Amino acid sequence: MAVSPAVPQKRPPEELNRAVILLGPPGAGKGTQAKKLAARYAVPHLSTGDMLREHVANGTELGAKARPIMERGELVPDSLVLKIVAARIEQPDCAHGFVFDGFPRTVAQAHYLGELLKQHGFRRPIVIHLAVDTSLILRRITGRRMCKTGGEIYNLFERPPKVKDRCDNDGGELVQRPDDREEIVGPRLKAYEKQTAPLVAYYKRLGLLHDVDAAKTVEEVEQQIWKTLHHARGKH
Ligand code: AP5
Repeated sequence: MAVSPAVPQKRPPEELNRAVILLGPPGAGKGTQAKKLAARYAVPHLSTGDMLREHVANGTELGAKARPIMERGELVPDSLVLKIVAARIEQPDCAHGFVFDGFPRTVAQAHYLGELLKQHGFRRPIVIHLAVDTSLILRRITGRRMCKTGGEIYNLFERPPKVKDRCDNDGGELVQRPDDREEIVGPRLKAYEKQTAPLVAYYKRLGLLHDVDAAKTVEEVEQQIWKTLHHARGKH
C-alpha cells in the first residue's frame, strides 16, 4: 500500500503566494483546518466570522448591526463584510497570501474578491471544498467549544480538552458560541444551502474547486488538503 507523504510542519510563505479559500457548511472544519494551514505557511488566517465576533465583543457600530443577524443564524449583509475584508488584505502581513475561512459566502462576495485579488496582483485562488454530510454537522457544532484567549477549537465529543472547560494551550476558558445552540443550527444550514452552496458550482466552472472529504478525521482531512494544494499549485 502506498504511504502518503507526511504533512510538513513549516513551509515558506512565498511557496503559497495566493489566497486559499476554505468553502463548506457550518461545522465542516473550515476553522480547524484554516488555522493549521495558515500556521504552516506563516500567513494570516482570515475568518470573517472571527472578525465579526471581534466587532461584536468590542461593541463597534458594525458589531451592533451584525450581532442580532448572527444570533439568528443569518448572513451579515455583503456591504458590512466586504469593507472588513478589503481593509484586512491591505495589511503587510497579507503580502504572501492568506487563508480565508467563511469568506466568500455569496456569489456577490466571490465576484468582489476576484476583483480585489486582481487589483492586489494575486494569482487565482485555490478553493478547497470541505464536503460533509448534514448528519455529522449537528454533533460537531453543538459539541464545539472555543478558547476565549487564543481561539483554539475543541469538540466535547471528538476532541475534548485535557482539563474540563480549559484550553490545553494557554489554560483559557472554553466557551460555546451563541449561534452554536441547537435551534440556530437549522437557520445556519438553510442560509448555507441558499446563499453559499451556489459557490461550489461557481468555482467549479472557473476550474478552481477541489473537493475534500471532510467527514474523515482532522488529521486525514489535513493530509488531503496538503496533497490537494501540492497538486493545485502546479496547475493554476
Ligand atoms: P463562521 O464563524 O464563519 O461560522 P460557519 O461558517 O457557520 O462555520 P463554523 O465556524 O460553524 O464551522 P467550521 O467549518 O469553521 O468548523 P470548525 O473547524 O469550527 O460564521 C458565523 C456567522 O458570521 C455566520 O452565520 C454569519 O452570520 C456571519 N458571517 C461570517 N462570515 C460571513 C460572510 N462572509 N458573509 C456574511 N456573513 C458572514 O469545526 C466544528 C467542530 O467540529 C469543532 O468542534 C471541531 O473541533 C470539530 N471538527 C472539525 N473537524 C473535524 C473532523 N474532521 N472530525 C471531527 N470533528 C471535527
